[in-house]
Formats: sequence, C-alpha cells, structure tokens
Amino acid sequence: MGACSGDKRVLVIGSGGREHALCWKLAASPQVAQLFCAPGNGGTGSVATDVPIAATDLDGLARFAREERIDLTVVGPEAPLVAGIVDRFRADGLAVFGPSAAAARLEGSKAFAKEFMARHHIPTAAYACFTKVAPALAYVRDQGAPIVVKASGLAAGKGVIVAETVAEAEAAVRAILAEGAFGDAGAEVVIEQCLAGEECSVIAITDGRALFTLPAAQDHKRIGEGDTGPNTGGMGAYCPAPALTPVLAEQVEQEVLRPVVDGMAADGTPFVGVVYAGLMIGPDGPKVLEFNVRFGDPECQPLMASLEDDLYEVLAAAARGELAGHTPHPRPGAALTVVLAAAGYPGSYPKGETITGVAEAEADPNVVVFHAGTRLDGGRLVTAGGRVLGVTGLGATLAEARERAYAACDRIDFAGKTLRRDIGARAL
Ligand code: AMP
Ligand code: GLY
Repeated sequence: MGACSGDKRVLVIGSGGREHALCWKLAASPQVAQLFCAPGNGGTGSVATDVPIAATDLDGLARFAREERIDLTVVGPEAPLVAGIVDRFRADGLAVFGPSAAAARLEGSKAFAKEFMARHHIPTAAYACFTKVAPALAYVRDQGAPIVVKASGLAAGKGVIVAETVAEAEAAVRAILAEGAFGDAGAEVVIEQCLAGEECSVIAITDGRALFTLPAAQDHKRIGEGDTGPNTGGMGAYCPAPALTPVLAEQVEQEVLRPVVDGMAADGTPFVGVVYAGLMIGPDGPKVLEFNVRFGDPECQPLMASLEDDLYEVLAAAARGELAGHTPHPRPGAALTVVLAAAGYPGSYPKGETITGVAEAEADPNVVVFHAGTRLDGGRLVTAGGRVLGVTGLGATLAEARERAYAACDRIDFAGKTLRRDIGARAL
C-alpha cells in the first residue's frame, strides 16, 4: 500500500445482508486498512476478515477489539445494542458507533418509545399500554377494530398484529400477555390506532446533535406479492422512495428526527448511532409507526450501494461527536434490492442448498449481491438462513435499477429460491 493509504482497523458486528453491505462500503474507504466482521457470513469474507465471535458475546467482542487495537466498531443488529454493547465498549475506552442501552430503548421497548414520543410531541398513532389482560381487552372493545396490538419488547419483527376485527385483537392480547407468545418481550403490550397510508423508512446517522439523513427507503415486509401473507424481515427495498416528497422529508426532519435527537439529549440519554423512523404517510402527514436504532435490513443494502460518501469517515465522526458539517451525497438515480429467500421462509426452511450464479449476476457492474443467510462449506457456497441473498441493482432510474436487479436474480439459483417479483412496483 502507498503512503497515502489508511491505517484504520474496523470491526463490524453481525452476519446479515446489512452487515455485508456495511463491510462492502467500509472496505471502499481509503482510510480503512483492515476490516473484520464478527461473525460474518458466506460473503463478508470477500471484503473483510471473518472472526468467529457471536454478535451477542459482548465480552468476547470487547476482548477482540482491545487485542486487535480496533479504531472503530460498528454494531449492525439491535440485540447487542439493547444488551449494552456500546456502554461496555466505551467503559473499555473503545470507539464504537451505536446507541447506549438507555438510548436503544427507543427500539427495545415500544412502550418507552410511545411515551417518549408523547412527551416530545412527535406525531404517532394514539395508544395505551397494558400489562394485564382484562384492562387491555376492555380497551380493545372500547376502541373497536381495526386496531394494532404490539408486544413491547424485541420480537424479531413478529410482535405486531394488525387486527381487522375485535376478536382478532382480543386473541392477540391473550396470546401475548397470557400465553407468552413472545416470552418476556410480551410482558407489556402497546395497543394503538390503525393508521392508513403509504409506508416508508427514513434513516439518519447522528452523533447526538447533528443529523446525516439518508434518502427515504421503502421496505416490502410481507412474503407474498401484492403485500400478502405473513410478515418477514423484509423481502426487498429501494431508495429513494418517491412517497417522501422533499416537503415531507423536511417535515420528518423537523417533526421527528430533530425532536428525537434533542429529546434524547434533554432526557440525559444522548443518542449516537442510527435513528430509523418507520413512517406512515397519511392524510395528516407522516406519523411514526416504530423506531429502530440500527440500519434497516434490507434497506441498508440499496442505501449503501448508492451512497457516494466515505462511510468510515461519517461513522467515525459520529462516534467522536463531530458529525456537524457532513452531508450525504447519494449518487443520482436509484438502487433496488430483491431478497432471495429459502422455501418456507418466514416459517421453517431447509439449509445447506448449493447456490450458483452469484459471479454471473455480478458480471453486470451495476449489480452487487449482498450475502445474508449463506455459508462457505469448503469452497461451496450454500444457504444458511431464511433470507439468503440481497440482489442489488443500480440505475439512472428506479425502473432501470429494478430491471438490472431482476436480471441478476435470474442468473442465481438454489433449490427452493423464493422471491417477490413486485419489489418497487408501487413506485413505478
Ligand atoms: P412495526 O414493527 O412496529 O414497524 O410494525 C410492523 C408493521 O405493522 C409495519 O410495517 C406496518 O405495516 C404495521 N403497523 C404497525 N403499526 C401500525 C399502525 N399503527 N397502523 C397500521 N399499521 C401498522
Ligand atoms: N426491514 C425492516 C427492519 O430492518 O426492521
């Protein structure tokens, strides 16, 4: 390497498509000399050194970061954040990008998030919280349907029931509070007004004061085409989402993102990391459906594929509290990711199926394939999860990005390959 090349040592924690996309983008930074991913997947090894430490092994990760003199750790998933990995790293004097456990409650407790929004006048659905079945049932009957019942804690995206009838809502309340369908995550329920409109996600990087807001993205949560069937982690995403017009984007900045950052600081729990606002754009403007405290997956994939800035520089500046003056430079055009899933997902699915055609798919310079549930078995790439790959196309227009992504999807094969053919269709 020449004299101008970087010397930074970076650790990314996680093993999904989000983490592959983060590694891919960090590896492109001239400042990064050495990149590690713990534990990584079948694709992260092409841009990073995989380290076999689980994302939830906080002691093991902190030890690794100390021993390897890591300059910046980037935490992908919510579980270690909610468990306090950032507090742990900071106590050891290690630089880390992500929120403290206190700040991560914005995602870890929906009851906390609703109460926070009420206190700081952030637009969201009307709600009530319950820990006992009888008053929750009485509230549901009083409000009527449709109504939304949510387990308050982390439930891997499965803890939300949009009930069309009172009976369905009652069943959800009983399943969560009385039958422990989501374990401890369901010790409390949030019951809220059902909102209608167009959904989109706005993701901003913050150092606790300044905001670096990325283009709006749209996820496709249901397994089936036309938004049918059970919820998944996300079957595809694209950006920018035209549903968020420049006027609405400004409104989200002023009415949601700014009050989150200022409110968390005022409450004594400054928020450093990613604020992800899941929004419903309805007749009276954007309202918050949920907060996440990390990049969305798959949303992170088209966002990283189309970001022109040096991600290391932005995340390191945010971790140091010096984000002011940085603004995002998305490349013109659009990016779209189609998830290739295993047959049966989001239910049970087989693993170990041979995957072919990834190199052929990436022969198009406007395509990048991010790995999620993959593993290298000897030299063979095999499936190892429900969401297997995120096939990402770039284009001057959304239509072009979409065409490239689907052409690449058709070059990839594995037994049971499952995908939605309508990613991005509503925006076209
Ligand atoms: P969440 O995990 O809170 O984002 O909820 C998962 C999905 O449930 C969202 O993406 C929405 O499609 C739906 N949802 C959540 N809250 C509401 C609500 N108040 N009204 C209508 N749909 C909702
Ligand atoms: N794709 C939605 C999420 O990451 O929560």
